Amino acid sequence: LKAASRELLESAAGSRPDRARPASLGLVPTMGALHAGHATLIRQARAENDVVVVTVFVNRLQFDDPADYERYPRTLDADAALAGEAGADLVFAPGEAEVYPDGAPRVLVSAGDLGTRFEGRSRPGHFDGMLAVVAKLLHYGQPDAGTTVPTRYRAYFGQKDAQQLAIVQRLVKDLDYPVDIRPVPIVRAEDGLALSSRNQFLTAEDREAALVLSRALFLMKERAEARLPLRPDDAVALIESDARVELDYFEVVDPETLEVLAFNCQDTPFTGTGLALVAARVGSVRLIDNMPLTDG
Ligand code: PAJ
Repeated sequence: LKAASRELLESAAGSRPDRARPASLGLVPTMGALHAGHATLIRQARAENDVVVVTVFVNRLQFDDPADYERYPRTLDADAALAGEAGADLVFAPGEAEVYPDGAPRVLVSAGDLGTRFEGRSRPGHFDGMLAVVAKLLHYGQPDAGTTVPTRYRAYFGQKDAQQLAIVQRLVKDLDYPVDIRPVPIVRAEDGLALSSRNQFLTAEDREAALVLSRALFLMKERAEARLPLRPDDAVALIESDARVELDYFEVVDPETLEVLAFNCQDTPFTGTGLALVAARVGSVRLIDNMPLTDG
């Protein structure tokens, strides 16, 4: 990967008149089963960089449920085709022995308190497992020290996984990774359902039922924009009105710190910014979704 990306960076830099301008590399880490959400990340990376690298690796360490890991879709040929169409120069799909040559690593980066709430509470170890691989993937993509041209390095993460994004941003800040983390807005199906590699496991009825999640989030967005009291209890009631949907959590938090905003005072008009987070089980699938909130 390093040699190939160095070659691409040097040829990108060499082929333009202004050689002093840094050549840039955009990294898009994924677990494959690529869909239009991933394609949006890749296209944004393409628009902002000279070289685009997509990684595909189903990271066992971040699965708290072994059955979920076993059935996770593995579609590398289709992924490579989609990545190429969206503008990737390289697809890097390492095997487990390459990423974890000694089995599970003994030293882990901890997500700290950011990793123990919301998704972290329901999926113990998930975020430390995610960081175990992201900490490495960010190194793999790092333009090589031997590159003779000045470089810039960016990595793309979807807002679909808002807590993951917040934790990766803290990783980069707290451990001084020389990379810009670029957030990409959630891509939804026309009916509002956030795209996910796991949606294919929803039956038609489950999929219909799952729409209460995005409806509840859009209700919060409308109220925030109108500076009305959010009354998140209404969102909870909407979700719980569908017996197929088993709500895990619905919270309105600070977008960066993920501290729960105090909406106990149900009658206070919304001001500022927030992030509504939801997770629920529908049929055999655990779904997460979220919505940034601003006061108009
Ligand atoms: P994966 O679920 O494959 O997602 C890869 C990237 O695509 C993540 O940054 C995710 O937020 C983004 N993404 C997925 N669905 C999206 C949607 N509907 N809209 C916008 N972005 C979307 O997230 C992971 O893999 C892994 O945890 C990983 C970071 C690769 C580490 O293993």
